[in-house]
Amino acid sequence: MLKDRSILLGITGSVAAYKAIELIKGLRQEGASIKVIMTEASKRFITPLSIELASGNSVYNDMFDSPLSHVSLSADADLFVVAPATANIIGKYANGIADDLLSTALLAFKGTIIMAPAMNWRMYENPVFQKNLQYLVSLGIKTVGPERGSLACGEEGIGRMADIEKIMEAVRTAFSKQDLAGENILVTAGPTREYIDPIRYISNRSSGKMGYAIAKIAKRRGADVTLISGPVSIKPPEGIEVINIETAGEMHAAVMDNVSMSSIFIMAAAVADFMPSETKGSKIDKKERLSLNLVKTVDILEEAGRFKNKPFIVGFAAETGQRLDRARRKLVDKDIDMIVFNDVSKAGSGFDVDTNEVVIIDRKVDRRLPLMYKDDVAMVLFDRIKELKDNGR
Ligand code: CTP
Repeated sequence: MLKDRSILLGITGSVAAYKAIELIKGLRQEGASIKVIMTEASKRFITPLSIELASGNSVYNDMFDSPLSHVSLSADADLFVVAPATANIIGKYANGIADDLLSTALLAFKGTIIMAPAMNWRMYENPVFQKNLQYLVSLGIKTVGPERGSLACGEEGIGRMADIEKIMEAVRTAFSKQDLAGENILVTAGPTREYIDPIRYISNRSSGKMGYAIAKIAKRRGADVTLISGPVSIKPPEGIEVINIETAGEMHAAVMDNVSMSSIFIMAAAVADFMPSETKGSKIDKKERLSLNLVKTVDILEEAGRFKNKPFIVGFAAETGQRLDRARRKLVDKDIDMIVFNDVSKAGSGFDVDTNEVVIIDRKVDRRLPLMYKDDVAMVLFDRIKELKDNGR
């Protein structure tokens, strides 16, 4: 995604400066080329040699090494990232101060800027700093974090630099088309749990990875995203609303609360098809002979498909074996717009993996995709949804 992109990275004097190495490596791994400007203070926290080795380029630091470097570095870059960004650099930039190479290059830059603030919570909450930060935000500067947690000074509070993955995602977003801006996308993900007693439940092997990838890509392409999630062990993407549920009944209620506000509804969750007819209030003694009476859960997708003013609806059909006909029948029976078929018995296409091999079935055509990363499946899925929506559905 970042292939042939040229990123200028500013590193300032925060304890988090050492994390810049991981950021540089991650960005390069995705194909970007990185040039780095270090402030004097940042060199107290990490050596320019380490940064040079990670970036594969010499580090820029002195304004007078090459008198026009502040202009040429800025002119050559597609994106400017400052991570970590101290209160000092944010204050300087907000007030037009240009007294070293980084602050000068920032003023000379005309493209998108991402800043990842890092500082003590007292500095972060200081109204002078907040005024500077809000001013930059109002100008369209993107910020990531900071996060709450234990700080370098030993205190707890807000001020930790955002996780590197979050900064990476902000970079991907900056380079991504915003063609889903204005869409309100509701996504469900993960398994549900149907309780037998307070301790035991029936569930399935869904990891939630496909649904989370869909939510992340939708957000990256500019949509407002609400994710209704069953219990999973992955972190939700930044900047989306997450509703955590456990049972099919709770998922049903959450979908019904939100679906009418959505323009696209994607049901990627593996909802349990059956639940115990009753949930015991206390733990069932194992001395008892247990036989379970199961009843069907509400078919959420089918119910949404019956709505009058319904959004564009996408279902998933996880099958064992190439049962495309079954998937196609679900599309018609549930009266939805698209169904994503995948054969979970195929290698690389099952549960808890980062890849999937799917067929996207809509009212017009079947599109068989090769084995792909789930992020890429989500990309193609939205391309097709966009295409269909732009053409009247
Ligand atoms: N689904 C749903 N509510 C349920 C069960 C499933 O909304 N109670 C949705 C799933 O999220 C998925 C789609 O229906 O998007 C297809 O799920 P699947 O279990 O494959 O199909 P079913 O319609 O339940 O049919 P069957 O179990 O017979 O294959």
